[in-house]
Amino acid sequence: MKALCIDAYGGPEQARLRDLPVPAPGAGEVQVRLAAAGINFMDIHTRQGKYATSRTYPQRLPTTLGIEGAGRIAALGEGVTEFHLGQRVAWCLVWGSYAEYAIVPAARLVALPDAIAEETAVAALFHGLTAHYLIHDTACLAPGMTALVLAASGGIGQMLLALGTRAGARMLGVTSDPTKAALARTRGAAEVFLYENGGFAAAARAATGGRGVDVVFDPIGAPSLRDSFRAARRQGLIVAFGSVGGTMRDLDPIELGEAGSLFLTRPRLADHIADSATLRRRAADIFTAISDGSLRIEIAGRYRLEQVAEAHAALEGRRLVGKPVLIF
Ligand SMILES: NC(=O)c1ccc[n+]([C@@H]2O[C@H](COP(=O)([O-])OP(=O)(O)OC[C@H]3O[C@@H](n4cnc5c(N)ncnc54)[C@H](OP(=O)(O)O)[C@@H]3O)[C@@H](O)[C@H]2O)c1
Repeated sequence: MKALCIDAYGGPEQARLRDLPVPAPGAGEVQVRLAAAGINFMDIHTRQGKYATSRTYPQRLPTTLGIEGAGRIAALGEGVTEFHLGQRVAWCLVWGSYAEYAIVPAARLVALPDAIAEETAVAALFHGLTAHYLIHDTACLAPGMTALVLAASGGIGQMLLALGTRAGARMLGVTSDPTKAALARTRGAAEVFLYENGGFAAAARAATGGRGVDVVFDPIGAPSLRDSFRAARRQGLIVAFGSVGGTMRDLDPIELGEAGSLFLTRPRLADHIADSATLRRRAADIFTAISDGSLRIEIAGRYRLEQVAEAHAALEGRRLVGKPVLIF
């Protein structure tokens, strides 16, 4: 089978297209013939070695890239009884989906409803599950609350806007250009600001009568985090869920006190889908939101295995609106 692998951390040149034997499932695992895989910033972070020492995502070399896929079950490992051959399934946070076949623990699978195509599933699942826990468990958004979403037109950003609006909160967005801002409005943002070297913080305060927002969702990191503090209300919550712009390494906790006794959290999806029941409950809610039209899935581009470097460059170059997917 064809697979995109790395033997060393680094730039796009480290990703090698290989011919590997089709892997067999062990006990409790299934073998899936992939139809589609998601292309994520986490794949770039994996290639760069950001998880080299992680305990949450203990990914070591050599490895096959890709953390999210969908397809049909081609073989069942010993003891797997809840799924059947040929069944359409999807998963995320299991490495190895940039390949024609993947081995996935049955506990990490969700069954796909008939109405959800494989490419929709991979465009929706990882980002959707993330937005789901961020809205409902981390921020606990409810009517009367206001939240600010940075990178609002991005994969997770669009879903935060849609699910936050569905939860009854007032959602504001920040993005880098007017075209992306227009898209964020269609996903539920009441107002969208441009970064303007941190000027978005004053704009968000003005939009809340000077009070500041209850919650800021910041996936960017070092370039924006201090400005996010300035956008929040006293005792507000800063959800630093990513670091596409680089990790902040010089934060003194006293800054949170000075900014109004803020709460800062750096949550991870793995801790919010730790058991199959929670994973499948969240996935079912995402699929329902797609079916009832409250969550629209924007596919930013369809790529082949040979073109993954192109997709990664577009992600890093901020040229995509929505989610790129890999089609087999
Ligand atoms: N904590 C979790 O549970 C969790 C789960 C999934 C993903 N993540 C993280 O969330 C982050 C976002 O992932 P995503 O897949 O949704 O990406 P994305 O939002 O689709 O793309 C990143 C967006 O960030 C903005 N951006 C700002 N500065 C950037 C920079 N220096 N380089 C690249 N983009 C920049 C761009 O939008 P503008 O042009 O509008 O600024 C770009 O569209 C990643 O760090 C990922 O690892 C965290």
